[in-house]
Amino acid sequence: MKQTIKKAIFPVAGLGTRFLPATKSMPKEMLTVIDRPLIQYAVEEAKSAGIEEFIFVTGRGKTAIEDFFDYSFELNHTLELRGKIEDLKKVNDVVLDAGKVIYTRQQEPLGLGHAIWCARHLVGNEPFAVLLADDMILSKQPCLQQMMDHYDGGNMAAVMQVPNDKTNQYGILDCGAEDDYKIVAKGLVEKPDPAKAPSNHAIIGRYILTPEIFDVLEQRNSGAGGEIQLTDALQKLIGEIPFHGFKFDGKRFDCGSRRGFLEASINFALDREDLRESIKSIILELSQKLKD
Ligand code: G1P
Repeated sequence: MKQTIKKAIFPVAGLGTRFLPATKSMPKEMLTVIDRPLIQYAVEEAKSAGIEEFIFVTGRGKTAIEDFFDYSFELNHTLELRGKIEDLKKVNDVVLDAGKVIYTRQQEPLGLGHAIWCARHLVGNEPFAVLLADDMILSKQPCLQQMMDHYDGGNMAAVMQVPNDKTNQYGILDCGAEDDYKIVAKGLVEKPDPAKAPSNHAIIGRYILTPEIFDVLEQRNSGAGGEIQLTDALQKLIGEIPFHGFKFDGKRFDCGSRRGFLEASINFALDREDLRESIKSIILELSQKLKD
């Protein structure tokens, strides 16, 4: 029987130092691609895949995220008075259902594995999704939905091939058998040096995990960068719980980097009907200028 995934964790405690000074007084997840913060894209992807409970692992200085997913009484009142019905709809549409959204804090920056572990009691004993808002994926069908359609137990993460010299930025698979959609991992390594990487198949920030991961994370073993790594915990479970890399259909942008962020803004704008033509003309004008 197909398992349904109802809960998703959004680790949003990171400092976002690569975007300073913008992130000095605002969470990096609130950086805006066109007219929506990064975290809204991730939440919408989860919603469209049927997620019903949203668990945010936050930290100090992240209250803007909580306010974003709540009603803003003053703003609503003003928009109502002005008869701005469309704007009102936009701000109300992002509000998450009462009792279906939970915020917990990762009090120390001990790594992604630790952030996930912080949500252990909120998830309980069922498989759950994890979405990293930094990774934006432009696709016909949302990446998490694609994964759910192919999920039949065990641990799974979205994977893509990255340039060989970039393996030290990702969790990397030691690849076993594969079919059109999934790669069985014989092993996993977090951020290996290119010379030691078992492949160039890299984990991207979409996961479906089983609750057994919490017992491994509980051991608080630190790995790459001295952090408690999710990849290491998943590796430890291989043998007991299979890990599949999911070859998603779509283009991923690393919005944790300035280049990736800019690229995402352009590509997402090109994908929007209301913006496509104006962005196209800017690009054409620019490319002409660059040729001259
Ligand atoms: C995290 C994970 C890594 C994964 C990456 C995807 O790394 O630890 O395994 O490949 O996300 O974006 P981070 O980018 O947080 O350093």
